Amino acid sequence: MWSRNELCYNWRMRNFIIDTDTASDDAVALVMALRQPDIDVKAITVVAGNVPLAQAVQNALYTVELCGADVPVVAGCEKPLLRPLETAQEVHGDDGMGDIGLSLQDRAPTRGHAADTLRNIIRQHAGDITLVTLGPLTNVALALLCEPELARCVSDCYIMGGIGSGHGNITPLAEFNIWVDPEAAKIVFESGLPIRMVGWDISWKYATFDAAQASEIRAIGTPLAEFVVDIQATLTDFAIAETGLSGFDLPDPITMAAAIEPGIVDFRDCRVDITTGAGLTRGLTVVDVLGVTGAPPQVKVATRADREAFVAMLRRSVS
Ligand code: RIB
Ligand code: CA
Repeated sequence: MWSRNELCYNWRMRNFIIDTDTASDDAVALVMALRQPDIDVKAITVVAGNVPLAQAVQNALYTVELCGADVPVVAGCEKPLLRPLETAQEVHGDDGMGDIGLSLQDRAPTRGHAADTLRNIIRQHAGDITLVTLGPLTNVALALLCEPELARCVSDCYIMGGIGSGHGNITPLAEFNIWVDPEAAKIVFESGLPIRMVGWDISWKYATFDAAQASEIRAIGTPLAEFVVDIQATLTDFAIAETGLSGFDLPDPITMAAAIEPGIVDFRDCRVDITTGAGLTRGLTVVDVLGVTGAPPQVKVATRADREAFVAMLRRSVS
């Protein structure tokens, strides 16, 4: 872990607000942000997604406590705007944290609703707030529906979601966060937020860890190093058996890395539209790479990442 004076001399505190459906990869992204000395996490807002809302809240509270941080965790929407909740407990475990027996209950979140917290903090820090979303976009959409001008107050917005190019993870072409609540995603992607979209393709290409790579991180030997690897137990089995990867992948952490150090990920301007249909047309991020629709680009879509820089940042955050 490096100290503040080891950061470049002209560093300044940056304000973050993070929306998450806290499960095993979200938790690693939270650790990275909470352990970054030049980032002030104003709040963590929680949404149902990987696991039911109450569990995601407990997972976020546990992670904040493990980091020794004092950051409000606020519960939000327990289901998508219009659709029933579909969780990913088969991917992350029933508790979302690898079912390794962590004590993930009886912690109290901060009172209030996540959508109000998003509105209050973004308005309070207008022009100097980075919004990072790690789950379905239900909370963010609700905040924008209540206060559309909020989109202009956010200085940077990093969204883990969608597919920049290639195949999906929940259907052949859809990614889970967008697919769970496509209506919310459509609202967010058409809101005017300065979106940088980190698709799941970036995760499986640049943020996959096989057993040896995972062991190298765990061998750092700190409680956080062991935590960030051990909670991937269910995800590891799923990734190898179902996704065909060499080990677990970390979509939320590489998105957080892009927010912490923008140079780690390259982006290109594209028009991105969201489909809100059913079956194979549910929750697609339709990326107009060639501009054939003639619609003006409104999203920066991630195209590649610097794995070495990402892994170095992850290692520092748990050292
Ligand atoms: O598709 C990957 C995304 O869905 C990640 O955010 C993961 O945590 C799940 O929410
Ligand atoms: Ca997530």
